[in-house]
Amino acid sequence: MYFSPTATTKTIIETIGKRLVKKNGIDQGITVDFTLPKQRENGPTFNSNDVLLIGVPVYAGRVPHILLNYLNTIKGNNTLSIPVVLYGNRAYEDALLELNDILVENGFSVIASGAFIGEHSYSDTLAKDRPDNTDLSIAKQFADSVYKKIENSARKKPIIKGNKPYRAYSSSKIDKKREKDRMQVEPKTDENCIDCKICAEACPVGCIDYNDVTKITGTCIICGACVKLCPTSSKYFDHPDYIHLKLALEKQYIDRKEPELFV
Ligand SMILES: Cc1cc2nc3c(=O)[nH]c(=O)nc-3n(C[C@H](O)[C@H](O)[C@H](O)COP(=O)(O)O)c2cc1C
Repeated sequence: MYFSPTATTKTIIETIGKRLVKKNGIDQGITVDFTLPKQRENGPTFNSNDVLLIGVPVYAGRVPHILLNYLNTIKGNNTLSIPVVLYGNRAYEDALLELNDILVENGFSVIASGAFIGEHSYSDTLAKDRPDNTDLSIAKQFADSVYKKIENSARKKPIIKGNKPYRAYSSSKIDKKREKDRMQVEPKTDENCIDCKICAEACPVGCIDYNDVTKITGTCIICGACVKLCPTSSKYFDHPDYIHLKLALEKQYIDRKEPELFV
């Protein structure tokens, strides 16, 4: 299962999932992509023979807030689970611990967990093109060690990094300003737009008007899907605080971070 507006989480979850399924000798697992609003109504229920591999991106060091209600509808019955987060080379802070806690509260037992790096949603230079081949081979090795642990009936819980209370949502400058001024950071559209509707169809909060894709009808979560998927590069953010944050992140987090695995 994954939520993945710009597809980095999807890539890692599919890589780990395919490897686990192949090792197990079954044809295919069941994939649930809960990126779009209509896919986030009621979560599935799992039994004790299932294994849930689930991934979300890190937003402000946390599990994306808009997912909390849906994640709490996914139920396990002493089901093994593998929570995974993708972050944009800054930090994952408390997101992995939070996802782990949500699963445990809903009847899952965590067997292993991992934090991987994906190209930052705001940028096409920060963690550019990640996950790359090195990340994918680490993801496969991770799947192999998780599989071995399951096969050996080892049930030792991994120690997962993170703090409680979790990081406050509005700790970045952009979040604080948004809260204070009800500032709307939302995508603009330039004259190269060909009205293909890809942006409206991809928006995970359904806030781009299908009939007039230049109109934003709800609260944009700045996930970057419309900007990164636009075939004519017509969608862009130009809010000064967004640009400031993007440039600061690109400047500060140049050093390559590596995946962290907890098995
Ligand atoms: C609103 C928002 C907040 C983010 N916060 C963080 C963060 O705290 N740390 C970080 O390293 N990356 C952060 N990112 C970047 C994403 O976690 C990263 O690009 C991830 O790979 C995106 O996943 P996706 O491709 O599945 O959408 C943030 C992205 C967005 C849209």
